[in-house]
Amino acid sequence: MTLPSDHFLFTGRRPDEAEWFEFLESFHERYPGATSSVVARLRTAEGENSYDVAAATLAALLPQGARVLEVGCGDALLLREVAHRRPDLSLYGIDVVACDVARARDRVPSAYIRCASFTPESFGQMRFDAIASHLVFPGVFDPQRMLEMVSQLLVPGGAFVAVMPHMRKSSSFTETMAEALASLRVRHPAFGLMVTTDPRAASDEGLREMYASEGLHLETVRDFDVRTDQRGMLSEVIRRSYPFGLLEELPGVLALANRRDDGTLLPLKQIVARKQAPRS
Ligand SMILES: C[S@@+](CC[C@H](N)C(=O)[O-])C[C@H]1O[C@@H](n2cnc3c(N)ncnc32)[C@H](O)[C@@H]1O
Repeated sequence: MTLPSDHFLFTGRRPDEAEWFEFLESFHERYPGATSSVVARLRTAEGENSYDVAAATLAALLPQGARVLEVGCGDALLLREVAHRRPDLSLYGIDVVACDVARARDRVPSAYIRCASFTPESFGQMRFDAIASHLVFPGVFDPQRMLEMVSQLLVPGGAFVAVMPHMRKSSSFTETMAEALASLRVRHPAFGLMVTTDPRAASDEGLREMYASEGLHLETVRDFDVRTDQRGMLSEVIRRSYPFGLLEELPGVLALANRRDDGTLLPLKQIVARKQAPRS
């Protein structure tokens, strides 16, 4: 697949939400289970992958029978890990990409999973004891709006558990991405992903501010790395990262990755935030 030269990726134009979802659809149709198929193979020093980390956090936080929603659940690896640890929980998921939702429903039949974009009305009047997102926030069309919707859908005292890329820590992954961006900008000077650019998401102080303005109090921030020594994995991770897998220039980008491929390290951050109870 070759993207046309007037595609928003090359022109620097911010797409509208429909174009952004169209882009997500074409990416995920090309790479079913794009994220889980590679990220689940990267592990902490203790042998957990990042889905295990988030699932263990949720499992430890929640009372019996609590209701949990995963936003941008993809093919539901996180929901599956939560279901293994806590079969008593009521699990919900939502994702805009139909092929991954079909896989998610097969993988976790006990969960109710919607194929739609996330809105405050996605589950009617339902409210959740916890909302999770794994490698979704802040890479969404409007990260601040996502936090606002999360806050609206949480019960007071409810938790938001988000695993996200650590945006300031250097790694084989971030260095290759930076090189790839620089090389693409020689040919396409405006090249970039014109969503997900809220600079506040790059620092803990900025994140705290983004969360606080939606009544979400940052409770814990845990930085952790997942890695593998397996050769070739860095290329696989980059191929499945937006938007590289759809670019005509992909072979050149993968060559950059292969040059430094003596293993892959992905720095991540897990944030647990609580919805503040309204002041009486
Ligand atoms: C990088 S993937 C992560 C998938 C999954 N959480 C995982 O880690 O395996 C991001 C997912 O978020 C979904 N997504 C992004 N914006 C969304 C929105 N507004 N509503 C629903 N899903 C969304 C995408 O379709 C995609 O499946």
